[in-house]
Amino acid sequence: MSRTPTPQQFSLQVFLDDRAERSLPGDVLEGLTSSPKCIAPKHFYDARGSALFEDITRLPEYYPTRAEREILSTHGRQIAQITKTRELVELGSGAAEKALLLIEPMLAEESLERYVPVDVSETALREASEAIATLHPELTIHGAVADITRHLGDLPQSSGGRTVALLGGTIGNFRPSDRIRLLREMATFAGHDGHVLIGMDKVKDPAVLVAAYDDAAGVTAQFNLNLLAVINRDLGADFKQEDFAHVALWDSENEWIEMRLRALRDVTVTIRDLNLKVSFAEGEELQTETSAKFTRSRAKAELAGVGLQLADWFEDDAGRFALALARPSD
Ligand code: SAH
Ligand code: AVI
Repeated sequence: MSRTPTPQQFSLQVFLDDRAERSLPGDVLEGLTSSPKCIAPKHFYDARGSALFEDITRLPEYYPTRAEREILSTHGRQIAQITKTRELVELGSGAAEKALLLIEPMLAEESLERYVPVDVSETALREASEAIATLHPELTIHGAVADITRHLGDLPQSSGGRTVALLGGTIGNFRPSDRIRLLREMATFAGHDGHVLIGMDKVKDPAVLVAAYDDAAGVTAQFNLNLLAVINRDLGADFKQEDFAHVALWDSENEWIEMRLRALRDVTVTIRDLNLKVSFAEGEELQTETSAKFTRSRAKAELAGVGLQLADWFEDDAGRFALALARPSD
């Protein structure tokens, strides 16, 4: 049997085909003229940013990917049996390596028909979809290059049995009000007989958390600084990476890790395409990412607040990371 995917099996829908669609100009204009300065973390993920994130997942300090993989390896079969998933929609799928740990048990249950990976990063989405299509020619794959905060309603209709997964702890990268909005949309999108499956990093020793976001090899620093390269390339800006330092700190009140870029000297940057000049005073920080951490009780309460009932809570052996499985409350 040929392992090459046929065109019917694999299709790709592109909702974000230019930088305006990705909202980069508006986000940069608003973010660099506000105080404090900030840019949404979805703009990290050009081809280099996605590749750097994959490097992060292999760092000794960055435990979330290994912990979530352990949970999926142990409980994937159980999740497949509970959900009887016919359509798996994976939001922010990235390299989709962990998806196989759900897809394979779901195929073994003979329920899964379609896999729908959704990501802003077209390169990551294409490579992942092609790899999965090659491994599983029996599965229909419908990828979508889309913003999960804007395009869920534009994805193909489901005929039931949908599981909406958001793995990796990406839910923590949305600010609280955006997170609630996204959870509500995921609940609606899952449908009355569907499920949502959400990877959540847990609150733990701040030293462990900070090390995961400030690794000794400096890969997370490169990932953070890559944001400046994205703005330079896509908006004709003249940021110099050497003018900024990577900062990762634990905010105990909000229970999130915050990544920032701190100006090492007074800097003025021109963003040609926005006709904008922006000044940073020495020590001024640009907020680039928050990564919220969860407890079971907070997750349960947040899910209940959007009409989702926590059905199961799976953790790795060391209790570092959790997978919340929820379904719409009756
Ligand atoms: N789920 C994978 C990848 C996590 S990295 C894992 O667990 O390893 C986060 C992914 O979410 C990236 O691939 C990024 O491109 C994507 N992403 C971030 N914000 C997004 C948004 N608003 N819409 C769609 N994808 C987004
Ligand atoms: C994708 N997301 C869950 C990662 C995180 O841990 O918040 C992104 C990341 N940022 C720095 N390292 C990894």
